[in-house]
Amino acid sequence: MLPQTSLQLREYEMVLAHTPVLPEELIDLVKPDAGEVAFDATFGAGGHAELVAAKLGPDGKLVACDRDPSVAEYYRDFARNAPCATELYHGNFADVLAASDDASFDIIYMDLGVSSMQLDRRERGFSYAYDAPLDMRMDPTLEVTAADLVNTFSADDLADIFRRFGEERYAKNIAKGIVATRKKRPITSTGELVEVVKANIPTPARFAAGNPSRRVFQALRIVVNDELESLARGLEESYRVLKPGGRLAAVSFHSLEDRMVKEFFKRHSAGCICPPGFPQCVCGHEPTMSVLTRRPIVPRAREIEINPRAKAAKLRVAVKL
Ligand SMILES: C[S@@+](CC[C@H](N)C(=O)[O-])C[C@H]1O[C@@H](n2cnc3c(N)ncnc32)[C@H](O)[C@@H]1O
Repeated sequence: MLPQTSLQLREYEMVLAHTPVLPEELIDLVKPDAGEVAFDATFGAGGHAELVAAKLGPDGKLVACDRDPSVAEYYRDFARNAPCATELYHGNFADVLAASDDASFDIIYMDLGVSSMQLDRRERGFSYAYDAPLDMRMDPTLEVTAADLVNTFSADDLADIFRRFGEERYAKNIAKGIVATRKKRPITSTGELVEVVKANIPTPARFAAGNPSRRVFQALRIVVNDELESLARGLEESYRVLKPGGRLAAVSFHSLEDRMVKEFFKRHSAGCICPPGFPQCVCGHEPTMSVLTRRPIVPRAREIEINPRAKAAKLRVAVKL
């Protein structure tokens, strides 16, 4: 039953914050085993960590990482009840993995993007659903906020990021609208940005399915948090710090991330990379990973019904050979 009162809604949000996406699918593919060492690159509220830790047992270890320091409150609860050893790093997973030794982990998994908790805490400025300061930093020690981008980037640069990272059709019009608005006053809140987007897209697009600001918010969030560069580095470092036989899993929520994971796995699982038409192999290239998910695993209808935020999730898993 859906929540009816504001108290029920709050409780529902608390439960959702702890509801990991594709939980059984991740465990079935990654197969955490007793005594193994796992790296949870995106700890969040610890939903996946709890499931993985349960399989690692007293001789295992779960190393958690998140760039958002506010996960510490969730980590405390998790560590208190965890059946294995635990450790928490605050930082970008790409940097934490880069500082790790070769072959440190049996399992690495990343559940990318923003957490329910970040979206629901209005003051973080991630959500177009509430009026709040236009911030969007996962790590509040980062220097540049979404408001800084919106108020300083040229119209061309804004249009470029809305197109590239949000696949926004009306990128140019929205960027021009932002520049015209900020000549009168800086745009400092999510509500102001939502209004500028609405005023600069054709009327039918304002009433199309989904919020018309979704793509612009996604693009700004990706740039503020340097998400794609972090993923690219994180994947490379993951390969290095996995043990042979180690499993790497990534859950992505938009096509840009999913494409990067897919390409990374494809590159590592390729055998011969000689140009097509070569009579015999001269490259001698051997696969270094085996992909366990020929197609990405997506949530079942039942999961989306319970947790609508899981809708766009795609899971890919590969093993280091
Ligand atoms: C979708 S949530 C993870 C939810 C978690 N799996 C759970 O079950 O509760 C994503 C989390 O990853 C963190 N995050 C995103 N990119 C990161 C990065 N490059 N380095 C470290 N943490 C990151 C965010 O701060 C957020 O807390």
